[in-house]
Amino acid sequence: MDIGPNPDLPEDIRYIEADVLDPQLPGLIEGVLPEDARPFIVEDTAHTYETTTAALNGFHHLVPPGGYLVIEDGVVDIDELRINEDWPRGVQKAIADWLPSHPRFTQTASPYVVTCHPGGFLRASA
Ligand SMILES: C[S@@+](CC[C@H](N)C(=O)[O-])C[C@H]1O[C@@H](n2cnc3c(N)ncnc32)[C@H](O)[C@@H]1O
Repeated sequence: MDIGPNPDLPEDIRYIEADVLDPQLPGLIEGVLPEDARPFIVEDTAHTYETTTAALNGFHHLVPPGGYLVIEDGVVDIDELRINEDWPRGVQKAIADWLPSHPRFTQTASPYVVTCHPGGFLRASA
């Protein structure tokens, strides 16, 4: 886990190279956020049950009321839409297993007509 220099990025963007499965990562990210931050969390790592669950558990508390936590690429679990057998699986089950114990979040419809993230738009109650 490393907070390095920002390769070709503006100074106010912090580049952190880390494993989403690292339990120390949420605390490190929380530590670099400005006090008045209103994080919009987007999970786009390996699209497995484990990485999705780690992102949900690790970052949900950072989402402000009315904000979103977006889990990308839940399309991997829809057989008709899988274009490659190498794709992982587990995103939809991770969301479904996690939501009942986190009633602050509601699965909302995609704001887009077409999306690769079905079921992944999780809105925090206001
Ligand atoms: C689909 S790409 C997303 C890239 C980026 N979000 C973008 O849109 O350009 C997935 C990325 O997640 C990284 N990744 C895979 N497993 C990870 C993990 N456990 N923790 C952190 N990143 C991971 C991969 O190395 C890859 O760069």
